[in-house]
Amino acid sequence: MDAPLPKPEQIRLAVVGLGYVGLPLAVAFGRRLPTLGFDVNLARINELERHHDHTLEVPEAALREASQLRFSADAGRLHECNVYVVTVPTPIDAYKRPDLRPLEAASRTVGEALSRGDVVIYESTVYPGATEEVCVPILERESGLVFNRDFYVGYSPERINPGDQEHRLETITKVTSGSTEDAARFVDALYARIVSAGTHRASSIRVAEGAKVIENIQRDVNIALINELAQLFDRLGIDTQEVLAAAGTKWNFLPFQPGLVGGHCIGVDPYYLTHKAQQVGFHTDVILAGRRTNDGMGQHVARRVVRLIQKHDGHPANCRVLLLGLTFKENCPDLRNTRVTDIVDELAEYGIAVDVHDPWVDAAQAREAYGLALVETPEAARYDAVVLAVAHRQFVEMGTTGLRRFGKPGTPLFDVKGVLPGAEVDGRL
Ligand SMILES: NC(=O)c1ccc[n+]([C@@H]2O[C@H](COP(=O)([O-])OP(=O)(O)OC[C@H]3O[C@@H](n4cnc5c(N)ncnc54)[C@H](O)[C@@H]3O)[C@@H](O)[C@H]2O)c1
Repeated sequence: MDAPLPKPEQIRLAVVGLGYVGLPLAVAFGRRLPTLGFDVNLARINELERHHDHTLEVPEAALREASQLRFSADAGRLHECNVYVVTVPTPIDAYKRPDLRPLEAASRTVGEALSRGDVVIYESTVYPGATEEVCVPILERESGLVFNRDFYVGYSPERINPGDQEHRLETITKVTSGSTEDAARFVDALYARIVSAGTHRASSIRVAEGAKVIENIQRDVNIALINELAQLFDRLGIDTQEVLAAAGTKWNFLPFQPGLVGGHCIGVDPYYLTHKAQQVGFHTDVILAGRRTNDGMGQHVARRVVRLIQKHDGHPANCRVLLLGLTFKENCPDLRNTRVTDIVDELAEYGIAVDVHDPWVDAAQAREAYGLALVETPEAARYDAVVLAVAHRQFVEMGTTGLRRFGKPGTPLFDVKGVLPGAEVDGRL
């Protein structure tokens, strides 16, 4: 007989992986039902036990309010649980292939703790099929249990946008799915307890997996189109922002902006789908073309800055440029897969010395991740060019006058993000 699913009052939930996705989820569940937050990183567990979240996603008060939430790095504690939500990273390797090792490791850990009737829900972004083809066999092997008879699986992709106070876990419609009709209903009801925006029950796990991955691919490809246009308009001597403002007056023109595409989602997820496509012998030309264009934007920005320096009678080899911002996006400390480093690398190719300043970033982390020594307080009147790479609010508040103070008299100011008045900068995407 098929094992019965846990009744609502029997649920003992575990969140496996307490990063940007896992912690807000553990806190939301921990307000309503017994929840164990598990992570292999002991330092992370220690800071959370002190009610501190270095990702700045969850304030201290919210951590304290989650009265039923406990933290542990001890996998043995997972045996107390019967519903597991897996939120571990799904990065790519040096060859841009999916690196499923964290997902496989987490599945092994959960598999060891699994009992009859338990439910494992994956939230990590993957390609269609990954949950059932990669994770389920591991769960079966480690537990000795039979899928869809002894235990069940769900997939509910995460859509949060770190640093965004408006679109939060509770206010974004949650896509849910399950490996059987009953499991799908169970997963849906579980999320309905914490998501006020409501849920969307997909017809299968693969549909839910596909939905998540294409959300980010759609953004990537659309940004790539605007990035390509920005490169073309630069050659044509037209300001892209002015073109976008004019085109944007049409009701159905989509408001995408040119820029660097970094982070662990938009620049990474497409490779999950293109990997799966390769497995079935399908060539994803458009998706990969978008990736190529977006990956070339750091180089494009650097070359435009060099041109500005040359126009200003500077020789790149004697120049020092101030790059403001290192994170992959504004107002958050997240350095993962930042493409600002492409600007640094390309400027260095021209012999330019680059100082990077970012008040949101932990200097030790920047050194460890990218070998960059951040400048804590950039000197005034020191630089031959100033590049606003990330629109952190501190930089935007300085305005063009404040930002120009870092430069020598007449130094060019380049606005990668298009947030400063066009007439007051020397170049922008
Ligand atoms: N951050 C986002 O904005 C976002 C949005 C939507 C989806 N996602 C997806 O969600 C997933 C998680 O992303 P994230 O940003 O939260 O990652 P993260 O790196 O912030 O956090 C992952 C956590 O998992 C822990 N971990 C790694 N391996 C583990 C294991 N075997 N067992 C237990 N814990 C383990 C790590 O120590 C870390 O604390 C990824 O698939 C990502 O693509 C992220």
